Amino acid sequence: MGSLKGKDIISALKFEREDVERLFKIAEELREEIKTKGVLDYAKGKVMATVFLEPSTRTKLSFQFAMVKLGGRVIDFEVSASSLAKGETDVDTLKIIDGYDPDVIVLRQRKPHFPEEIADMIKAPIINGGDGPNEHPTQALLDVYTIWRELGKVDDIKIGIMGDLKHGRTPSSLSYLLSKFNNVTIYYIAPEALQIRDEVIEKIKDTSIKYMKVNDVKEVLEELDVLYVTRLQKERFKDPEEYERLKGSYRIDRKFLEQFKHIPIIMHPLPRVWELDTSVDSMPQAKYFEQARNGMFIRAALIKEVLGV
Ligand code: CP
Repeated sequence: MGSLKGKDIISALKFEREDVERLFKIAEELREEIKTKGVLDYAKGKVMATVFLEPSTRTKLSFQFAMVKLGGRVIDFEVSASSLAKGETDVDTLKIIDGYDPDVIVLRQRKPHFPEEIADMIKAPIINGGDGPNEHPTQALLDVYTIWRELGKVDDIKIGIMGDLKHGRTPSSLSYLLSKFNNVTIYYIAPEALQIRDEVIEKIKDTSIKYMKVNDVKEVLEELDVLYVTRLQKERFKDPEEYERLKGSYRIDRKFLEQFKHIPIIMHPLPRVWELDTSVDSMPQAKYFEQARNGMFIRAALIKEVLGV
């Protein structure tokens, strides 16, 4: 992408490796600066609007904390107290918010591709905070940033992405971002009914990624550098009986992991439900809380770049 100033951040596919590595460097610098000075003043006088039309803890709060730590201000759109209840559309809502001149809008919406559909109607840069099952590009940034911090590299790694790959937006964006690096092998680990969508394979098949679909994590666990676990996306199932049938179809706990001679680092975008037992939390390989914290620093780096400050 080159300079990110004023750009919409819609898809992980749009990043170049150089963008990602520059963001790592800025995130590391901001981490140090925030540690010594607390709140900085890069974004002084700038305003971020957070518009989350689907629930969120990490994405919304880490963007808000990041903006405040950069010295900017945040206006949060509160769904439950809004005129959406009167039947106002999401498009009109966004146009109204944009009319108040935010410097950046972070948007989460249920409909796939909604951010790109409205980007041309909105003056402020839009950062996609998740568009239904389609993409979550800033989650991919923090995932790859965590891999880089933990392993010292992103090239030449083997990663197992396990869980509900069909309905999840983090497996797609993570695959797209990893395709910008060299010699990455992805094992998509899921029951057949939850396997990765064809559209994702279509987008990575001509890149440097090597991939394989696997049903059982035991087949590959000892080969992995990273095991990235995801939850079953209950809210995206049309048929509750199918959710019940697949519930519990994959799960890791400490006892399971300790059977293996080599245990990879364990990541998860969170929230978790039953697929990642809390007994794993005290293992040295458990990185998911650190991963969530890393999100604040890489998002601060992204905001700084998009604002051009
Ligand atoms: N990982 C993630 O997107 O979490 P939230 O849904 O809480 O933002």
